[in-house]
Amino acid sequence: MTAGKRILGAAVGALLMSSVSAYAETIKVGIIGPFSGPFALQGKNFQAGVEAYMALNGKSVKGHDIEVIYRDLPAANPAQSRALAQELVVKEKVQYLGGVYFTPDAMAITPLLAQANTPLVIFNAATSAIMNTSPLVVRTSFTTAQTTHPLGKIAFDEGVKKAITVVSDYGPGVDAENAFKKAFEAAGGQVTESIRMPMNTTDFSPIMQRVRDSGATGLFTFLPSGPPTLGFVKAFNETGLKQAGIKFYAPGDLTQESDLPALGAAAEGLKTSFHYAVSHDSPENKKFVEAATKAIGGADQLSFPSVGAYDGMHVIYKMIEATDGKQDAKKAVDAVKGLSWTSPRGPVRIEADTRHITQNIYLREVAKGADGKYINKEIQTFADQKDPGMPTQ
Ligand code: PHB
Repeated sequence: MTAGKRILGAAVGALLMSSVSAYAETIKVGIIGPFSGPFALQGKNFQAGVEAYMALNGKSVKGHDIEVIYRDLPAANPAQSRALAQELVVKEKVQYLGGVYFTPDAMAITPLLAQANTPLVIFNAATSAIMNTSPLVVRTSFTTAQTTHPLGKIAFDEGVKKAITVVSDYGPGVDAENAFKKAFEAAGGQVTESIRMPMNTTDFSPIMQRVRDSGATGLFTFLPSGPPTLGFVKAFNETGLKQAGIKFYAPGDLTQESDLPALGAAAEGLKTSFHYAVSHDSPENKKFVEAATKAIGGADQLSFPSVGAYDGMHVIYKMIEATDGKQDAKKAVDAVKGLSWTSPRGPVRIEADTRHITQNIYLREVAKGADGKYINKEIQTFADQKDPGMPTQ
């Protein structure tokens, strides 16, 4: 081949490439989560959910290849969260943001979305009020008000008349405390004391002493899932509160499946309410668990952030489909308002007014599964639960 022909060939190639890319651009999705540090397993679950979705549904939408870019945010850190989101939008030119484990990190990103013309699909952060901070945020996880709500009546019906609440002192903890108190007192019970702990509390024995001394027969608690929840449940089990007749109530953050081997037999019988159990019995969940287990490298590591991520990718794929690859955040978000589908957790819907996910909440009990390993066994279903923490509903 002559030099002239080679140059011509290269030019035609470049032209073809540019016409192809104008027609079917690669769409970048930026995912922020804790991929290192104490909460790394939660971030790994985000990634497993994303990878499971792409393995089962393909890596392109309408001819647009999807490229996922991960950014590590090891702990709640709003300034770093904002900087990562900015970098993803400005430098990486992502069209979609997703992930976000902690509420303060989500709150730091939502003010950027309008100017960035970028939707944020939250895979975890669970404070109700996040949805009021931008019309471009959609959530596929849960709120602590939503998961907690059924527990108030359950506790009362189980004979608890006086309860104490113990929560992490930030958005999802305060929402959970309020939701439990409201439902428990509406049923006829009384919350006699409400303790709010700093987020970085690691020694729970003084708290357990206060619970024991309070005279309450029910304990409601919320902490962000990860090392804090493992530490809290261990302290509850080891300080003999169960033996002292104190019943334990919490959303499923407290008994995530990946912690059950470490909690062991002491956790047996703990009742929690939540939107997702890895053991949920459905064909959709079977397929999901198989793909997510492959992605994460072991069934013992799977936990709820994986399903928030899996459904989050479903929403992002629908947004890409509706905009055909063009960056139009409002059109993308409008396209998923009212969207319903069967998630691995059960039937779900994105409410048009709140952009939050409506779903079943299940009462579960830690029990041995068929293979002898501990699971969160679903024992009751509260169907079609909206977020009771949203004042607009
Ligand atoms: C949150 O910060 O919103 C959050 C974190 C972990 C959870 C639940 C909520 O398990």
